Amino acid sequence: MTRAFVVGHPVKHSRSPLIHGYWLKHHGLVGSYERIDVPPSDFEKFLGSLGQQGFAGGNVTIPHKEAAYAGVAGRTKRAERLKAVNTLWIENGVLWGDNTDIIGFMAHLDQSLGAGWEREIRNALVIGAGGAARAVIAGLQERPLDQVTVINRTQPNACQLVQDLERPGSRLRSAGWDRLSTAAGQAQLIINTTSLGMAGHPALDLDLSRVSSETVVADIVYVPLKTPLLAAAAARGLRTVDGLGMLLHQAVPGFARWFGVTPEVTAELRSLIVADIEGAR
Ligand code: ATR
Repeated sequence: MTRAFVVGHPVKHSRSPLIHGYWLKHHGLVGSYERIDVPPSDFEKFLGSLGQQGFAGGNVTIPHKEAAYAGVAGRTKRAERLKAVNTLWIENGVLWGDNTDIIGFMAHLDQSLGAGWEREIRNALVIGAGGAARAVIAGLQERPLDQVTVINRTQPNACQLVQDLERPGSRLRSAGWDRLSTAAGQAQLIINTTSLGMAGHPALDLDLSRVSSETVVADIVYVPLKTPLLAAAAARGLRTVDGLGMLLHQAVPGFARWFGVTPEVTAELRSLIVADIEGAR
């Protein structure tokens, strides 16, 4: 039986077992996907024992993504780009790491907006400069946009992000928090990557009055599914992209590696996770 896992600390709220469990059942595969809580002090030992424990691989979540990057022997280009790993697998006895958050965000954006959206969307505004912002920006840099602006409460973190991810022709810049509403007015795609708007957190207070009617507003927060930012955008008639799709799509490459079948993000899977999010509230 092929076994996979999600490792984190804490990990009990992870919805990954629900996603992979759905695909295992859907494809009639004999396999398992379990939650494993490992504190940071034991993570290196855990990584070293994966093969002996009989795992094909697994997902890595907070706070272990950087330690997983440091601990793997092989890395994909995307993992190298973010210096963080969220997907592990063993190939010919070698432990490999990938970062599928980039693919997850872009696949969801493509599915939501339709292929060729870059023809209309030239400037993107990314709010936040944490790990999720890095994945979103690395994804956007794979597309021919004119400019990606990153704005963060603590501007030095945004400057550091720009320094780390900048590459020739990528047109990535940072701006101060006081420029938020002006930058929103100049962007055709606005993405919140901060924890603002998450259940139990304050909302992101973004003035959408200067935003054009063609602007798309995306949030990576998915609890609640309709964040105050997305609700405000929808009330203005703007297109919105919610955060759940990124979670669903980032799971695809891992499942394909461990279980040998490329699964699909279907409306049925989405409904299952939506019901779980709504049931937990
Ligand atoms: P993740 O890996 O999920 O992106 P993170 O690395 O902790 O999480 O990043 C959280 C992001 O949310 C950061 O950009 C953080 O801004 P700071 O760099 O200023 O800390 C942002 N954030 C968290 N709480 C915030 C708040 N109350 N107002 C504005 N930004 C906030």
